[in-house]
Amino acid sequence: MASSSTSYVATVESVSTCPVNCEMCPVSRADVAQPKAQLMSLETAAIVATRLKHEFDVDFVAWGNWGEPLVHPQMVELTRVFARVGLRNQFLSTSLSVKIDADALVESDLAQLDVSLSGITAEVYNVGHKDGKWDLIRRNLEALSDAVRRKPGRLAVAIRWHRYKHNEHQLEAARAWAHELGFDFKPYFAHIGGIDALRDWDRGTLPQDKVDFVREHVFLEFVEHVIAQHVGETSCPMNRNLIVHPDGRLLHCCALMASHQSGADLLRESREALVRFKEGPNPYCAECLAKGWAGFTHSSKTEADLRAPLPAPAPRASGLRILAQGAAAPRG
Ligand SMILES: C[S@@+](CC[C@H](N)C(=O)[O-])C[C@H]1O[C@@H](n2cnc3c(N)ncnc32)[C@H](O)[C@@H]1O
Ligand code: SF4
Ligand code: SF4
Repeated sequence: MASSSTSYVATVESVSTCPVNCEMCPVSRADVAQPKAQLMSLETAAIVATRLKHEFDVDFVAWGNWGEPLVHPQMVELTRVFARVGLRNQFLSTSLSVKIDADALVESDLAQLDVSLSGITAEVYNVGHKDGKWDLIRRNLEALSDAVRRKPGRLAVAIRWHRYKHNEHQLEAARAWAHELGFDFKPYFAHIGGIDALRDWDRGTLPQDKVDFVREHVFLEFVEHVIAQHVGETSCPMNRNLIVHPDGRLLHCCALMASHQSGADLLRESREALVRFKEGPNPYCAECLAKGWAGFTHSSKTEADLRAPLPAPAPRASGLRILAQGAAAPRG
């Protein structure tokens, strides 16, 4: 993340809903309380942007938490509102699962746009990205590629490739296609959901269909290896990441759905109250840190994590009781 250790970054949800229903995204959990679908208004965005810039010295903004930012009909205007106060380092993550205006996106105030992808054919893509419309996504990627070529240097685009067992055979073809399109390619290992999923797996309360999906498709040894590296940690970088909901609430944690049901009022509360809120724990933090889930959540999820040694002395125990037989992570 493009940030110095003392500054804040922000994660801003422009719209808290998504049509794709990914198998491992908490938005597809019928048993987990979901945020109400909401759009951030331009007025809310103007107050949020001004406070982020002038009171928190934010130097990096990521659009998209657990929603699909491009569902927002004024997403480009939102980037302008943020740029107007000096927030120019803007990143957006999207599944490209809605109709887009590729030229408008390229001319927006985004610096970087990443497209989350898990297949290059409908058959493979829809295993994880369950309700994504592959033909639309492919057309969007091609339109974006043409628009980037028409306006070189305006918007950097990358494919964020989610590595699952079922799509490893497409990884090199996906890389080649990304490069043909003029995009960067960033492969990384798929997770099993946010903190909710890690906790539910640990307690044996994750719904059976999700458990079956994880066992069949996710590189569990990778997940466990990285979690083991972080067991027993005592701090979480989340307190320097200002997570903003479309209604202007500041959320405590981006990775925990319960956070969406509470929060502090970023539109009205004092800076001091907001900092206290972010720096205080939520009821899940102690277990989350102790078991290594926070560290896993903030890891790069790339092969570099596989090469990193386990901390010494060896952790007491893995933070996740999962190790599935035959789920070895590939070595690159
Ligand atoms: C929940 S998404 C929200 C933004 C947008 N809807 C998207 O999918 O890019 C936020 C980030 O989570 C990542 N993500 C989603 N599902 C994932 C999975 N199963 N494993 C790893 N990362 C995932 C996406 O690549 C994205 O960068
Ligand atoms: S596209 Fe993004 S927000 Fe939507 S379900 Fe998938 S991961 Fe979640
Ligand atoms: S410790 Fe866990 S629950 Fe607490 S803020 Fe960090 S990631 Fe969220």
